[in-house]
Amino acid sequence: MIKIENLTKIYTHPQTKEKIVALQNVNLEIKSGEIFGIIGPSGAGKSTFIRCLNLLEKPTSGSVWIDGEDITKLSGQQLREKRKQIGMIFQHFNLMSSRTVWQNVAYPMEIAGVDKKTIAQRVEELLELVGLNDKAQVYPAQLSGGQKQRVGIARALANNPKLLLCDEATSALDPQTTKSILQLLLEINRKLKITIILITHEMAVIREICDRVAVINESNIVEINSVLSVFTSPQANITKEFAANGGENFPIETVKLKPGERLYKLSFVGESAEKPIISSAIKKLGIEVNILYANIDRLKDIPFGTLIITVGGSPQQIEQTEQFFTQQGLKMEVLADAGIAR
Ligand SMILES: Nc1ncnc2c1ncn2[C@@H]1O[C@H](COP(=O)(O)OP(=O)(O)OP(=O)(O)O)[C@@H](O)[C@H]1O
Ligand SMILES: [Mg+2]
Repeated sequence: MIKIENLTKIYTHPQTKEKIVALQNVNLEIKSGEIFGIIGPSGAGKSTFIRCLNLLEKPTSGSVWIDGEDITKLSGQQLREKRKQIGMIFQHFNLMSSRTVWQNVAYPMEIAGVDKKTIAQRVEELLELVGLNDKAQVYPAQLSGGQKQRVGIARALANNPKLLLCDEATSALDPQTTKSILQLLLEINRKLKITIILITHEMAVIREICDRVAVINESNIVEINSVLSVFTSPQANITKEFAANGGENFPIETVKLKPGERLYKLSFVGESAEKPIISSAIKKLGIEVNILYANIDRLKDIPFGTLIITVGGSPQQIEQTEQFFTQQGLKMEVLADAGIAR
């Protein structure tokens, strides 16, 4: 549905005329109905990227195809039409302070020349969807951050877009409110079949609702993968930093292994996260296990966990254990080895 080809954006500093390369030859395809995350450190080019998707920022070169149309080639009027299919929400909500919630949500429809009756109906529907019916006549200053973003979402959906762009939409919110806004976005994606592109610098946001993710660093995309793969086998160094789930900082050097013991890091995903694999291994193979670190999270609906354990036994038992873990679908990494037991 969306295809970005060789997208480059170079800014020119207004005074010094210095060139700033914000995006360099970026290529990406996003499928219809996906929730696609873009993560990267500050200054990587994330906002520039998302703003090029609705031409709030004009690309220096390259194409942005949306539903078979290269939007960089559209004329003013065609572009205004196309933009109705693209909603956007922002970190600081960008609501109009002199308009009520109701009037803020109505605004894009007024601009688009929608008749009053349809506007009234649609505003009611949207406020219902985001859970703000009781705040219709209130001004933005009287709302909490989470409520403001709900208004932002309702406004972005006003003209029935096919695509919703979110630039750090939860970065100004506390973790609890972040969760509720992300759940609302997930609901919108599923109910209304809207494709969502979401920019963030927080992996927790990606983990919560995204299907796939692109990692952007220093103006380039360095990795594109499913969220699951990004967590279980991150490729680029920057991805490894983002995907760290606690186990990375485990102080391996403090573990005193006894002869014959090995130290493992195990990652488990989906079904295998729910099976009692460790206790089965102990019963079946007679090994000794010590759990040093355990963490379980969710990737959207899928459980995902990390364990750091020592396993003690004869060389044969150790070998069987490793086979068993692999058969059970665990990803296994040997962190340290105390050699053969005597
Ligand atoms: N209007 C502009 N004029 C000149 N340089 C700009 C402009 N907008 C962004 N830049 C520069 O382009 C680079 C990418 O900026 P961008 O805002 O896309 O980063 P970002 O990944 O969104 O960062 P953050 O996480 O801090 O929001 C930065 O070096 C930034 O200083
Ligand atoms: Mg930004």
